Amino acid sequence: MISHMNMALRSPMLLSRYSHLLSAKLQIQMHLSTSPLTRKMSTDARSIASQLSNSGLLKTQGLIGEKWSDAYDGKTIQVINPATGDSIADVACMGGRETNDAISSAYDAFRSWSKITAAERSKYLRKWYDLLMAHKEELAQLITLEQGKPLKESLGEVSYGAGFIEFASEEAKRIYGDIIPAPLSDRRLFVLKQPVGVVGAITPWNFPLAMITRKVGPALACGCTAVIKPSEITPLTALAAAELAIQAGIPAGVLNVVMGNAPDIGDAFLASPQVRKITFTGSTAVGKKLMAGSAETVKKVSLELGGNAPCIVFDDADLDIAVKGTLAAKFRNSGQTCICANRIIVQEGIYEKFANALLDAVQNMKVGDGFSDGVVQGPLINEAAVKKVESLIHDATSKGAKVIIGGKRHSLGLTFYEPTIVSDVHNDMRISREEAFGPVAPLLRFKTEEDAIRIANDTNAGLGSYVFTNSIQRSWRVAEALEYGLVGVNEAGISTEVAPFGGFKQSGLGREGSKYGMDEYLEIKYVCLGNMNKE
Ligand code: SIN
Repeated sequence: MISHMNMALRSPMLLSRYSHLLSAKLQIQMHLSTSPLTRKMSTDARSIASQLSNSGLLKTQGLIGEKWSDAYDGKTIQVINPATGDSIADVACMGGRETNDAISSAYDAFRSWSKITAAERSKYLRKWYDLLMAHKEELAQLITLEQGKPLKESLGEVSYGAGFIEFASEEAKRIYGDIIPAPLSDRRLFVLKQPVGVVGAITPWNFPLAMITRKVGPALACGCTAVIKPSEITPLTALAAAELAIQAGIPAGVLNVVMGNAPDIGDAFLASPQVRKITFTGSTAVGKKLMAGSAETVKKVSLELGGNAPCIVFDDADLDIAVKGTLAAKFRNSGQTCICANRIIVQEGIYEKFANALLDAVQNMKVGDGFSDGVVQGPLINEAAVKKVESLIHDATSKGAKVIIGGKRHSLGLTFYEPTIVSDVHNDMRISREEAFGPVAPLLRFKTEEDAIRIANDTNAGLGSYVFTNSIQRSWRVAEALEYGLVGVNEAGISTEVAPFGGFKQSGLGREGSKYGMDEYLEIKYVCLGNMNKE
């Protein structure tokens, strides 16, 4: 996911090796300023921002321990509404020093937070969930304002995101250990599960709330404390969620938020021996750097990285279900999710019919500002995202692919891009090898089930995948053969807090959500009691 490149990294010893990652994007996005006030804004955005400000949810400072804090050097960074290009707010642009203080706060808070009962932690999380849901509308508005997705999708994200906190509040009470039958009669063996410690959570802009709650919910439930680094492109939702955590009574230092200078913040996480766990959602390239950087202090790492999702449509699929599913799998969040269908692989017998039906559906998609009625596709996050889509389409068409709809910037300007279908795509084109992270659906043709599986698995990524077929036998066979962490069969809406989310191969390490996601924040401790036969 190119756009996740916002988190470049630079640790003392890694500085020279990774200096090329001091992201160009960061430099484009960061308009440093010392004014704390919002600047130019459209009327709509202004009235939404002022309502949010009245409700106390429009925060512009980071959270370190019990204090909302400016950057120590007073720098700020503009948050831009991608649908209008307007500035929404100037937020603190923090770096290494603020991050080190946030880590210390989290480290101090860990002593007491890890000792209170699971039932108490559960109650705090439940309260936080209730507040997130009570402020669903405002949080959704914030998401649309800073990220651009249609308001309906933002409302969905709030429920989805809050769901991770609810699930964690329930699961907190079920972190069981084990008793192991002892190999010697005078021994008793058992296993305790204990929190890892301070967690550094680095999250992307495409789900400004859900990618935070998916990490922080289980972390806090297990007794860990956290420092969150939200994307500098979408920090406002993270800050609002943190404010609601405070209102829920979550003690100071348990949750901290720093944002701004991504390389410096990443370095501080990696360099600190107090940070025992890094959890990251973003690009594969940055995930690899974080994994390497964590080696020095041997941190536990979980990574949710880029995908290259195949969406396989067999001749025997229900056409209606396949088209609706493909639309959802491809165009959710303007194609900007790690599990968005990246290759639509269609069997030859249904190819023409499917392409025509998809074309009809795409023709009816309304593009615009996420606050406007009926809009199903908002802008892309920034110019770099549009350029990536353009270059993939250019490469594909230069090698024989055909644009059957879209294929150009939308007349609305800025970063709006037309929903696009490209036919006659091959698996060796860049569009099939790289994650587009945009609203472009490449159609590939296949003959047999074996072909489909071979094409689908011919990638280093292995996150989301989709299969459309009416054969129960085939659905099992193909689901088992796909080298992917998630498989949607006749269904595209597969993300939920109750199921494990994570990738095979270079799509990541570990799982988020579900009972499996809890293990990522736990250490296993074996205790052996000896000489138990002594009177
Ligand atoms: C992602 O894009 O990283 C997450 C998508 C999801 O949770 O469905």
